[in-house]
Amino acid sequence: MAQKTKPKYKRIAQLKTADDFRNYLEEQNIDLHFDEELLTGDQSPYRESYTLRTSDVIGNRFCILPMEGWDGTTDGKPTEFTKNRWKNFAHSGAKLLWGCEAFAVQEAGRANPNQLVIKPENQKELEGLYDLLITEHEKVHGSSNDLYIGLQLTHSGRFCKPKDHKTFDPKIAYHHPLLDKKFGIPDDYPTITDDELDRLIEDFVKAAVLAKKAGFRFVDIKHCHGYLGHEILSGFHRPGKYGGSFENRTRFLKEIVAGIKAEAPGLNMGVRLSAFDWIPFTKGEDDFGIPANFEKESYPFAFGGDGSGQDVDLTEPFKFVELLEKLGIELLCVTVGSPYYNPHIQRPALFPPSDGYQPPEDPLAGVARQINVTSEIKKAFPNMAIVGSAYSYLQEWLPHVGQYVLRNHMSDFIGLGRMVLSYPELPADVMENMPLKRGKFCRTFSDCTTAPRNGLRSGCYPLDPYYKQTPEFEKLKQFKS
Ligand SMILES: Cc1cc2nc3c(=O)[nH]c(=O)nc-3n(C[C@H](O)[C@H](O)[C@H](O)COP(=O)(O)O)c2cc1C
Ligand code: SF4
Repeated sequence: MAQKTKPKYKRIAQLKTADDFRNYLEEQNIDLHFDEELLTGDQSPYRESYTLRTSDVIGNRFCILPMEGWDGTTDGKPTEFTKNRWKNFAHSGAKLLWGCEAFAVQEAGRANPNQLVIKPENQKELEGLYDLLITEHEKVHGSSNDLYIGLQLTHSGRFCKPKDHKTFDPKIAYHHPLLDKKFGIPDDYPTITDDELDRLIEDFVKAAVLAKKAGFRFVDIKHCHGYLGHEILSGFHRPGKYGGSFENRTRFLKEIVAGIKAEAPGLNMGVRLSAFDWIPFTKGEDDFGIPANFEKESYPFAFGGDGSGQDVDLTEPFKFVELLEKLGIELLCVTVGSPYYNPHIQRPALFPPSDGYQPPEDPLAGVARQINVTSEIKKAFPNMAIVGSAYSYLQEWLPHVGQYVLRNHMSDFIGLGRMVLSYPELPADVMENMPLKRGKFCRTFSDCTTAPRNGLRSGCYPLDPYYKQTPEFEKLKQFKS
């Protein structure tokens, strides 16, 4: 039998010089650009402030992306682990904190039994978290006048696991033949009703009122990663007022926005959007990811997909951003796909999480795809305040690529996810031209995803001593072996 060649990707740490990096990108045919030299002082585009239409000023161009820690109490309150993570976000130097992490707007909508829940009984703790961010930021960076903090509101839809980390208790917008099969949803499982969605909209609005009371400046009405808001966008075949036409598939968003405007006036809003989606991927015989087998001619379940299941068509995402503008929403955080069924496009990594697969493309291709799609959106909607995602895989080259992106107006903010788990002060180091700490660069080992997939808290176990010292570190090693 002919032996298939497994793809071999160069590690970023091997691409030591600008020529190495440039040549590798060229060899791999990856459309990604970077600045060779980092600009210093006020020349650095990272240090430029951004003024929103509301006249609020965001002090610089680094944004911390939302990252859950699976570390709340079972009644949805933060623990010391949560607070430690948020403290790191505050210390990072970034002036835009997008959501901090996904908060469930109702118990049943939690993605795990330790997800934080926003409800009146947890208000004191929510206020405590906001105050912690302000105090810790001021301790390290002086003023917090130009620190802009939002809270991400979510319902996990198909991926609800409110009871324990193994048992899904899904709320699906429609039956998806591949995802139903992958996650064990029977054909006769009920879809979420229009009435339930009406009530859920009320929960989003109530949550926004609580977020405003706690001090948050905006809420993110989450529409990404396969969770409910995102799934509704691809409910092309769902009957009723929340499915079918673009008008109906965006009703959920429009009603939440109208409710928040009425009940929490003055609270700003943003949307984190999976700007495109692909078909679910699965492990092939050599462990590398392959697209799931779908026998129909066209794959009809991807919002922002071109029907092939593996390419992008931004026609509808553009319509969606147009709608955001009409609704008066200026803040958009661009991400793609889902960590549950196509993680290589969503959070490019060299080492897959335990429920993933070896990357079917060089992770740099995934980074470039997100950056270029974000840039297309920014070009078409220059008045939107846009945050890009998926920069962590760039490691040593992250500041160089981010600088190029900012200088060329391809995004307004450089969003950081995994990198701030391993190296929280990276934004401050870049802006102050400090030597970068190579030992702290996220090397995309994916332990922060593998741990929660196995019922453990998320954190950077390999590089953050705070997690290395926990008993979970040993358990994680056992799962991995
Ligand atoms: C441990 C972990 C938790 C995450 N939790 C969330 C979340 O709560 N909400 C969200 O929108 N994205 C979440 N993400 C996705 C990140 O915000 C980000 O999009 C992704 O990690 C890619 O960016 P990066 O390359 O900088 O890591 C999470 C990612 C990780 C690794
Ligand atoms: S565990 Fe640490 S090094 Fe690994 S992907 Fe997560 S943040 Fe990066």
